[in-house]
Order: sequence, then structure tokens, then C-alpha cells
Amino acid sequence: MAITGRPKVSVIGAGHVGSTLAMRIAEAALADVVLVDIVEGMPQGKALDLSQSRPVVLNDVSIVGTNDYADIAGSDMVITTAGVPRKPGMSRDDLIEINGKIAVTMAENIKKYAPDAFIIQVANPLDAITYVISEITGTPKNKIMGMAGVLDSSRYRFFIADALGVSVKDVQGVVLGGHGDTMVPLPRFTWVGGAPLPDVMPADQIEAIVERTRKGGAEIVGLLKTGSAYYAPSAGAFEMAKAIIKDEKRILPVAAYLNGEYGISGLFVGVPVILGKDGIEKIWQLPLSDEELSALKNSANHVKALVDKVNELGILG
Ligand code: NAI
Ligand code: 2OP
Repeated sequence: MAITGRPKVSVIGAGHVGSTLAMRIAEAALADVVLVDIVEGMPQGKALDLSQSRPVVLNDVSIVGTNDYADIAGSDMVITTAGVPRKPGMSRDDLIEINGKIAVTMAENIKKYAPDAFIIQVANPLDAITYVISEITGTPKNKIMGMAGVLDSSRYRFFIADALGVSVKDVQGVVLGGHGDTMVPLPRFTWVGGAPLPDVMPADQIEAIVERTRKGGAEIVGLLKTGSAYYAPSAGAFEMAKAIIKDEKRILPVAAYLNGEYGISGLFVGVPVILGKDGIEKIWQLPLSDEELSALKNSANHVKALVDKVNELGILG
């Protein structure tokens, strides 16, 4: 592998999310990429295919596919996407046992080969799998986080922009909480061209968009029939990786370990954070109303129930 001086990002799981993410990272020349999967030949084939696009997209990043976790050694960042996606009718939570075991394998190998790497965790159920990987790797809490809030907020912002016929660039908004039906879109903290959303859209239309956002993943699963979304999810993980690698100080919603912030402790839950070269540099405290805070705590309780299930099932060994 060429030594290029670029950061090294390993993407574990070369399926839909992982390979699309590898393409985004490579095309932006954000980092050299190692793509790991257990299926023989598949990550190698995808890496070769991506490499063959380099003369066209004109960059010299290194893209390596492998079945050997040893190749993640020295990674600056590891992004964990290995896991089974849900099928129509399933909830993300139904994946806990099977994806929990895959997460243990990923985590043990990160601990062995790339103990100093930042970790962006993507596999579902997002918040509980982030807990599993954190418990096993012992990664400092500023360096491990889950990707879901960027995706959920992106869906929410797209639905609003589409309904109003305005550019997505001029819709700012945030979704907090766990990555599931209890997630908390925040209309009061949503702006369209500087105007608060409730001033430019009727309440019943906002409620419909909030509900569609909560079910956004299931809507795609229902259409695809096999597998789940990957274009928007990979865009979300890419935005987080870029914020850290480029020290952008972006304020993005990520599943962060909370230690009393928002009245929640000991759990990974989606909240806004400042993301820069030190990873999660600060939890960003929004002045939530009692009702918004209670919705966030309800979502955190749901995450807690899944974490309890991880422990009941003995997934951590
Ligand atoms: P996929 O099935 O296309 O890819 C998963 C890959 O993981 C497969 O290629 C499989 O061979 C690989 N794999 C399984 N066990 C492995 C192991 N021990 N080591 C290395 N690789 C292993 O699934 P897709 O669509 O890429 O989704 C991956 C995960 O991401 C799912 O759990 C899905 O629910 C989740 N997801 C989470 C999102 C979020 O917002 N957090 C959004 C979209 C997907
Ligand atoms: C999504 O929301 C499957 O969690 C994934 O699309």
C-alpha cells in the first residue's frame, strides 16, 4: 500500500453503506481507505473497481479491500457498518442479537489493531451497538460516536424543503434522540431562510413531516424490499468523518455518550455536538422546553431498554 501522508480510514462492512461510504471518502480524497468484509473477494473487488475510477475522478488515494482485520492497523478512524439490515416489517431493535455479535467481532479487532482510532458507528440498532463497541474497545468517549442524527435531520430537512419548494441549503433543522420511532425532530429549532418553521408551515403539515421522518428508514425498506437505505446514511457518516478530519467544528447531531447533559447519564443518545479534531469537543446544549426534554428522555429510556437487553443476552460475554 502506498504511503501517501493522507489519513487512513477503515470501513468495516463493505456492503451497501460501507462501499458507498468508501466511494464518498475516496472521491473527496478525504483519506486512504481500507474496506473490510468477511465475504471473500468482495471487498477486494469493490476496492479494485473504485481504484479503477481514480484516473477519471483524478485523485491518488489508496483504496484497499481485505478480509483481514490486521489491515486496519494504524487507522486514524474506523467506521463500523458491518451488520445485517432489516427486512420489511422488522424494527431496527429486532437486529440486536445478530448485530450485537458482529459488533463484538468488530470491536475486538479495533481494540487489537487500531486502539487509538476515532470510531464512527453505523450498524443498527445504532445507539445500543455503539454501547457494545464502546464497552469492548474502551475508546475515550470523545472519540466514539454513532451516526444517525445527521441522517434523520437530513431526511427531515429534505421533506421540509420539498414541501415548501425551497433549496435544501436554506433549511436548518435538527433531530435528537435514539435512532428509532422515538426520535425527536424539533420544529421549534428549525429555520427556513431565517424564519422559524412554525411561522411558515401549518402545524398539521409539520406534524406529518415529523411522523414521516420518524418512519423514514422504514419507508425506504418498504420500497426496496431487500435491504435498507445507504445513499443518505453514507452521506451522514461522510459528513461526520470530514468534520473530524478537517477540524471543521461543525455542530452536528450524533449519538454521544452523555454524562448528565440533558439530564441523561451513561447512555449514547443523539444530541448536537461540536465535531472537530478532538472528535466530540463539546455537547451542544439546546434550551429545550419541558415537553421537548421529556420526549428526549423518553427516547433515552428506549435506548436504555435496549442496552439492558444487550446485557441480558450476554452479548458482551
Ligand atoms: P449490507 O448487508 O449491505 O452490508 C453489511 C456487510 O457487513 C455485508 O457485506 C457483510 O458481509 C458484512 N459483515 C457481516 N459480518 C461481518 C464481520 N464480522 N466483519 C466484517 N464484515 C461483516 O448492509 P448495509 O445496508 O450496508 O447496512 C449495514 C448496517 O448499517 C445495518 O445494520 C443497517 O441496519 C445499518 N444502517 C444504519 C444506519 C444508521 O443511520 N445508523 C443507516 C443505514 C443502515
Ligand atoms: C435507516 O434509517 C436503516 O437505520 C437505517 O435508513
